[in-house]
Amino acid sequence: MTNYTMTTIAQLSAYVGRPVALRGWLYGKRSGGKVVFLLVRDGTGGCQCVVSADAGAAFTAAQALTQESSLHIHGMVRADERAPGGYELEVAGVTPVGDAVDYPITRKPHGVDFLMNHRHLWLRTPRQAAILRVRHVLIQAMRRFFDERGFTLVDTPILTPGAAEGAGTLFSVDYFEDEVYLAQTGQLYLESAAMALGRVYCFGPTFRAEKSKTRRHLAEFWMVEPEIAYAELPDLVQWAEAFIVYLVEAALTHCRPELALLERDCTRLEAVKAPFPRVTYSEAVDLLHSDVIHEELQQAWAADRRQFEAWRARLETLEAERATARKSWQQEKLDRAIHALREDIRTLEESLRARPHYIEAARNFTWGTDLGGDEETILSRHFERPLVITEYPRAVKAFYMKPHPDDPRLVLNCDVLAPEGYGEIIGGSQREEDLDALVSRMQQEGMDLAPYEWYLDLRRYGTVPHGGFGLGVERTVAWICGLRHIRETIPFPRMMGRMTP
Ligand code: 4AD
Ligand code: MG
Repeated sequence: MTNYTMTTIAQLSAYVGRPVALRGWLYGKRSGGKVVFLLVRDGTGGCQCVVSADAGAAFTAAQALTQESSLHIHGMVRADERAPGGYELEVAGVTPVGDAVDYPITRKPHGVDFLMNHRHLWLRTPRQAAILRVRHVLIQAMRRFFDERGFTLVDTPILTPGAAEGAGTLFSVDYFEDEVYLAQTGQLYLESAAMALGRVYCFGPTFRAEKSKTRRHLAEFWMVEPEIAYAELPDLVQWAEAFIVYLVEAALTHCRPELALLERDCTRLEAVKAPFPRVTYSEAVDLLHSDVIHEELQQAWAADRRQFEAWRARLETLEAERATARKSWQQEKLDRAIHALREDIRTLEESLRARPHYIEAARNFTWGTDLGGDEETILSRHFERPLVITEYPRAVKAFYMKPHPDDPRLVLNCDVLAPEGYGEIIGGSQREEDLDALVSRMQQEGMDLAPYEWYLDLRRYGTVPHGGFGLGVERTVAWICGLRHIRETIPFPRMMGRMTP
């Protein structure tokens, strides 16, 4: 009796020419007369398993297996350059574990809504699993970055009595008959921890009732926030820059196969090196008004139009081929290609429609308003590396930010925009550490001071300059994976209009 060693697909290279057993799921199957190819995945990777008619019962079992049924399978490992992953299993036995009848996600094309409604199953497709793996690697790197630099992790509460980032985006919760809110940030609590421990960070779910359906907004997202005693604006910019470089390096070191599967252009990530370009808000406004940006937008528009024509022509060709295709596998393949191309064309059409609007947005942007999604897209496409924008108008930023000593209309803040049009991934600032200045700002904003007395205590007892920032996990994952929409970066997205599964 041969002894089959239980292993995983990721480990197969260590077992070439030896008998192994795997446990997984069937994600695809091809039959070619005297042989069945089972495409098996086990969470660590995918492997082609070859069952020949000589295998007897295994062959019969393999023929009966359906998509996404689970199985045990054993056989000999063979190195084969042509096989996806480089190894194949020459199957001696198959044991079905759980069957799967009419798995809803087939090889036929599906719309995003359908896939989102089946998110619990959609996660099994290699693309979605790859995104989750990149997310995991990035979260590990986020923690490691701070852990290795003397930061203490401090968990801040999720149920909070007041707003920190504007009352407009609060989710309220009934707390023993009192109205409280889901945390928009851990920052205020983190500031007190920084006065105890010096360097701290929190990492948790964050909630914003954003009433907009954009590709950048979630109602529930994860944010990592460092807070540093005695740090001033230039220190914060340096920390943010080093942090982003570290995250990109981690992805390039540990996620090459996933990024390849996602067809991410890694040269764009390899270009992310310190120092990052840095402009003030006022310089960013000048840039938006400049001829350089205008010219860039016109060129991008023309490029979009050319791409559109090329894709339309390709679609016509594919549709003509589909009309005459005889074999069902040809038809399926063409259907998938046509569906994918139509999706690309639809996205491009959206972008084309937005072009004149972008040009307007840049030209008409007025000093004093907040940079919105459009302006961020324009600015972050202009630079190869992430862009740091500092010193925004005080009026558009949160109450806790410290005003600029030379120009009280501005605050000492920094936002970082990811390149390639991804927009803001980091928001941070130096905090107002002076009691009287903070109280008068809060009064100007019409805030009730009572729920913030504890926060004001930090300014009463040994106040020091300090600051920090928050990085949005999902926006960072979207950028690094090169995804157009944020909804695929989190296992179960919560957005306006989506709460299930
Ligand atoms: O700029 P924000 O609002 O900053 C803060 O919350 C500060 N209290 C952070 C701090 O200084 N400790 O948010 C920080 C980041 C944004 O840059 C963005 O990446 C992400 O959080 N973010 C969102 N991500 C997804 N969906 C949303 N609705 C988001 N709102 C903010
Ligand atoms: Mg922000």
